Amino acid sequence: MLTMARYRDVMLMCFIVLLGTGCLQVCGRAVPHHRRRGAAVGRLQNATLTSATLSPVGQLGGEVSLEGCEIEIFGPALFGLLQRTDCLTLRGGLIPTVIFNSYTLDTLVIDATGLKLFDVVPSEVPYAKLRILQITRTKLEQLPPNLSLFVGLKRLELSQNLLTYVDLHVLGAMQCLRDLDLSVNRIVRLDASPELQLAGLRNLWVSYNRLRSFGAFPGAFPALDTVRLIGNAWHCSWVDRARANIIRHGITAFGADYDCP
Ligand SMILES: *[C@@H]1O[C@H](CO)[C@@H](O)[C@H](O)[C@H]1NC(C)=O
Ligand SMILES: *[C@@H]1O[C@H](CO)[C@@H](O)[C@H](O)[C@H]1NC(C)=O
Repeated sequence: MLTMARYRDVMLMCFIVLLGTGCLQVCGRAVPHHRRRGAAVGRLQNATLTSATLSPVGQLGGEVSLEGCEIEIFGPALFGLLQRTDCLTLRGGLIPTVIFNSYTLDTLVIDATGLKLFDVVPSEVPYAKLRILQITRTKLEQLPPNLSLFVGLKRLELSQNLLTYVDLHVLGAMQCLRDLDLSVNRIVRLDASPELQLAGLRNLWVSYNRLRSFGAFPGAFPALDTVRLIGNAWHCSWVDRARANIIRHGITAFGADYDCP
């Protein structure tokens, strides 16, 4: 028992050290910075966003949460007011367009804001600081090509939008990408060139879409641990190949009913 307890303590220490040195690791765990530090959250509710309403929360630094807020375009001018912010959450309200331009954000969450367009200001210097991007429960139909500038992403969560097509090529430069969630969209095709390798990807969710086949699976994802495939319209021939690959590569597939019609 004593040995077990010591072993556990050592593991716990390692875990804590791991969390503490997240910034030094090349591809560490994607734990938002503010959660580690336990910093306060600057909140703004039900406001019309202008530089006057946003500046005061932007001054606080750490995490900023904008709930039920409204603005036609959340663009570079507003991102510019959040230079001290690590984690930005836009939740509810109405913000149909977001034009990303921040070299300081670690985490961006956009949830149920009525988002229709997400784009990224082109830049010579990639936006390497952003590690977590979550866009969920919006009206987003496509990903911008400039998403490829997010070279430091570890987690990309795009569940419950209206995506119909994703070219995995835009994710090719994200060598730290560990978690990719494309579940609950309307994706008919997931394209990738034969050379594409997402070398760090561990968890891939494409469940509840309209896929019939997925040629890049599993070849483009050499480090894959888990996959969610259920709730699609898979072709029988694809399912047969996928089953064999899942077994051969020791991948865990959640949900067993990826049966073909
Ligand atoms: C913002 O609106 C929500 C929903 O209408 C309401 O529950 C909440 O109390 C409002 N918050 C403030 C600070 O007015
Ligand atoms: C994103 O990239 C595309 C193609 O390179 C470009 O046409 C578009 O203007 C870019 N987005 C923004 C916000 O500039």
